Formats: sequence, C-alpha cells, structure tokens
Amino acid sequence: MTDLLDAMRSTASAVTRQLDALLPEAAGPRGQVVQAMRYATLGGGKRLRPFLVVATARLFDVRDPRALRVAAALEMVHCYSLVHDDLPAMDNSDLRRGNPTVHRKFDEATAILAGDGLLTEAFGVLSHPDTHKDPAVRALLVQELAAAAGAAGMVGGQMIDISPEREDLDLDGVTELQRLKTGALIDNACQSGAILGQADDPSRQALAAFTADLGLAFQIADDLLDTEGSSAELGKPTGQDVAAGKATFVSLLGPKGARDKAVRLVDSAVEHLNSFGEKADLLRQTAHFVIERKS
Ligand code: IPE
Ligand code: IPE
Ligand code: MG
Ligand code: MG
Ligand code: MG
Repeated sequence: MTDLLDAMRSTASAVTRQLDALLPEAAGPRGQVVQAMRYATLGGGKRLRPFLVVATARLFDVRDPRALRVAAALEMVHCYSLVHDDLPAMDNSDLRRGNPTVHRKFDEATAILAGDGLLTEAFGVLSHPDTHKDPAVRALLVQELAAAAGAAGMVGGQMIDISPEREDLDLDGVTELQRLKTGALIDNACQSGAILGQADDPSRQALAAFTADLGLAFQIADDLLDTEGSSAELGKPTGQDVAAGKATFVSLLGPKGARDKAVRLVDSAVEHLNSFGEKADLLRQTAHFVIERKS
C-alpha cells in the first residue's frame, strides 16, 4: 500500500499543478468566478479519478505528462459536480474537502457559475491539440466524457438521487443510481487512459468490467463513511443520507452486508485485470484502497 500511496500523492501534486496552470487567475470583474473555480479544484481531494487516468494510461505506455491534461479535465468535471451537489438546492452542504463549500465561501450564484465554468473548460482542455496530436483521439475523449457526465451518466444519477422515488429504491434501483451518479466518471477515468493509449477493444472491455465493480465498491465505501466516518477526517458532513431518508447500500444491506458486498466487488474488479499481468498492480492496489480509505 505504501507504493500506492506514494504514487497517488505524486499524481495528486502533478494534477494540482496542471489545474493551476489551466486555470490562470483573471483580473477585473470576471475574476471572482475564476477564483471560485480555482478554490473548487486546487484545495485537496483524493484525486482518485486523475490517478485512474494516469495509472491506466501507463498500461499502454502513455507517459504521465501526456495523461495529466486529460486527468485534469476529468477532475474539473468531478469538482464541478461537487460544487453543484453541495448547493442548497441539492445537498445543502457547508463543508467540502475540509473547507467551506464554494457557495459558503463566495455565494450561490458564483458557485453555479464556477461549476458551469469548470464543466465547459474541461471540454476545452480535451479538444485542445496539446492533449493529443490525433484529432480522432481528442474527439473520442470529448464524446466519452460528455456521455459519462451528462443525463445518461452523472447528471442522470444526480436527478434520480433527488427524485421523490429516491427513498423507496430497492437494491437494483440503488445500484443503477450509483452506477450513473458515481460509476460513470470513475469508468471514464480508465476509458480515457485507454483512449489516450489507443487501446484495443478487449482491453477497453476488461477495464469497463473493472470499473463497473470498482465504482460500486467506491460508492458503498462512501455510504459507509456517511454513517460511520468522521466529518473531521472526511472533510465533509456525515449522516446526510440517513437524515434525507435515502435508500443506500448500507440502509438496505446493513453495515456488515454492505462491507461484505464491497469486498466481493473488489475481488471481482481485480480479476478483470488478469489480462494485463503485473503492469496492472497499481490498479489492483487502487481497488483495495477504495474500500479501506477513511476519507
Ligand atoms: C465524492 O467523491 C463524491 C462521490 C462521487 C461519492 P470523492 O470521495 O472522490 O471526493 P474527493 O475528490 O476525494 O473530494
Ligand atoms: C454526489 O454524491 C456525487 C456527485 C455526482 C457529485 P454524494 O452527495 O453522496 O457525494 P458527497 O457525499 O456529498 O461527497
Ligand atoms: Mg448528493
Ligand atoms: Mg453530497
Ligand atoms: Mg455521499
């Protein structure tokens, strides 16, 4: 695990530098939205999705500097999703990554615009020639992130999450919700790394099977941390799912059942990496990290 934590730390620093460079401060009256975009992206987070991009790209011999722009673009979309998720109209959270949420630090309108700005900027980054010399690769990166982030992906999952039917979802319903809300961007991380490496279809399918299990395991850990974790360690409020009466893996299976399911999912995720041999060791360790994490 030390190897993994070192690798994650080093990618996290690199992606933060990349984000810093991609989001230069702006003078004048529009400066505030850029400041809020920087605040939303530069201050912490596990950087799990960027790490998955980089670690997957390595499987196909893509060097880290080339993967980092793609990693930063995905992190922009993830951070936008958090900024909007925290708004009073959604989860009404005051704390994110140990700091006041964007709408608390600035104001609601600025938080909405900062999210919009990050989402838009991400596609600007992916489509820029610096990201990859082949326009077909860039177009595929754009297409896949759009699918993962939009109404058939993360946004669709967020819609289900706040819908009136939300409280009564059964296990299949919760699984589908989480596949969209959380799974889609996690899947996009590995797919983007593979696209950058111009991977063949069997490799992309193996990675899709890996992330299908990984994304669910990740969300079960998030649900467990919401009930059992500490807000100080997590840097975000706890107890929100129970307070909102949401059906989660934990409410449906109980804490032990949820934990057992997460362990089974990680075992299954790791098996999907067999064809990559030792090269996929970091991804294997990441799968274990996802359910052992405390934040
Ligand atoms: C939190 O994601 C939101 C979910 C999809 C459950 P992370 O747990 O990856 O948040 P950061 O990026 O580390 O802050
Ligand atoms: C939000 O899920 C996932 C997103 C798409 C942003 P949660 O509402 O469970 O995320 P946290 O617990 O606030 O990080
Ligand atoms: Mg939410
Ligand atoms: Mg939330
Ligand atoms: Mg949560």
